[in-house]
Amino acid sequence: MSTQNKISRITTRVLLEMKQRGTKIAMLTAYDYSLAKIVDQAGIDIILVGDSAATVMAGYETTLPINLNEMIYHASSVVRAVKRSLVVVDLPFGSYQGNSKEALASAVRIMKETGAHAIKMEGGKEISESISRILTAGIPVMGHLGLTPQSIFKFGTYVVRAREKEEADKLIEDAKILQDLGCFAIVVEKIPSTLGRQVSGELKIPVIGIGAGDGVDGQVLVTHDMMGITQDFSPRFLRRYLHLSEEMDHAVKAYIADVKSGDFPNAKEQY
Ligand code: KIV
Repeated sequence: MSTQNKISRITTRVLLEMKQRGTKIAMLTAYDYSLAKIVDQAGIDIILVGDSAATVMAGYETTLPINLNEMIYHASSVVRAVKRSLVVVDLPFGSYQGNSKEALASAVRIMKETGAHAIKMEGGKEISESISRILTAGIPVMGHLGLTPQSIFKFGTYVVRAREKEEADKLIEDAKILQDLGCFAIVVEKIPSTLGRQVSGELKIPVIGIGAGDGVDGQVLVTHDMMGITQDFSPRFLRRYLHLSEEMDHAVKAYIADVKSGDFPNAKEQY
């Protein structure tokens, strides 16, 4: 049995030890009980209840519309399924940018009403007061730098971030600020792999990448993307492990045909 399988519960301390040992961290999203159960039982280290639920579950174009009550609904469904993984929940857009008091109130609601283990927030220095206040309340915080989808209308595009030196320097400075504040890990999204490697090398806390190359301490993907449930999103960094939308399409068509022909239910499938 590997050391990984012997761990009964992933904590922020376990993640730090994984970085120190050079053991890569695997993180996936989940927004509901059934999927979270599969992902947790398979041995994932971190489950992110991402605000990507806005696009994946609700069909919005961006992550901005999802609200705190909806995140709490998704997160509490996930927590009920999870026995081993660390569950991290995104603070949604508009629930923490106003001021640090509002940010703390949002984080407290997530922790109290869902039973999750940590929250994630997008941004660096500009949200440091809020992060600090949340950490002071004993709530673990994961940072998120690089492409931060809640600011998509400021960027105006989903292209790779921090290619230029000025933005790369700012990202490294922000990453260090987040570490110094006490964040237990940072997600870096869609940045050059050289920068991902540099951030990971300069920080003691785990740096988890999505489109940030192979030099970081772990990887995160949206489960619906890697399973091939979503179809119209194919960035270069995405590896599809299944093509579930095709299999599901076949299954639905077979069911329709069986119902229409009277083949379903058969004699054994009724009382
Ligand atoms: O909301 C989300 O799924 C995320 C990941 C892409 C990191 O923030």
